[in-house]
Amino acid sequence: MAVRTIVTYPNPVLKEQCAAVTEFDDALCTLIDDMVETMNEADGLGLAANQIGLPLRIFTMALPTSDEEDASVETFEIVNPEILSRSGEIRFEEGCLSFPGISELVKRAERVQLRYQDRSGASIVRDFDGVAAVCVQHEFDHLEGVTFVDRLSPLKRRLAMRAYKRAAAQARFDEEDEGRSAVRPWR
Ligand code: NI
Repeated sequence: MAVRTIVTYPNPVLKEQCAAVTEFDDALCTLIDDMVETMNEADGLGLAANQIGLPLRIFTMALPTSDEEDASVETFEIVNPEILSRSGEIRFEEGCLSFPGISELVKRAERVQLRYQDRSGASIVRDFDGVAAVCVQHEFDHLEGVTFVDRLSPLKRRLAMRAYKRAAAQARFDEEDEGRSAVRPWR
């Protein structure tokens, strides 16, 4: 297993319509294992394949099994998903590993029913609600080339993008600063 590099906005792969998985082979298992490791390492709730540069219809999720603080985490490996139904409405503060430094309230369906395949190609239908449903919709959007900022009103999106650019510039500055400190340790 290996931790892959997570791509950030504005990498064009985030805008790609991802292709269906047709081969359920060892390469797919390796890719899914790497995605789970990369997601956990980054402390993310979910990760879509195009976030590591591969435009394929796969996402992984690490979801707590209850609201309790010490709840265990269930890992999901979702291949070729299809949202069969959506109902209700929920607003949840979302972030994204491809937009480090920002989070925004997004309106989503409160419940979704998802049909997908596992790594062996077996078909599964499962219901998700609350945060799990939010995560499913966020990751499903990635496979369509849609990110959570695309779900905001034009004004909120402009503000969010401004905040993102500021956060990205600050992160670059901090990195360079660390580099400078490394060559001049007396600073
Ligand atoms: Ni995301």
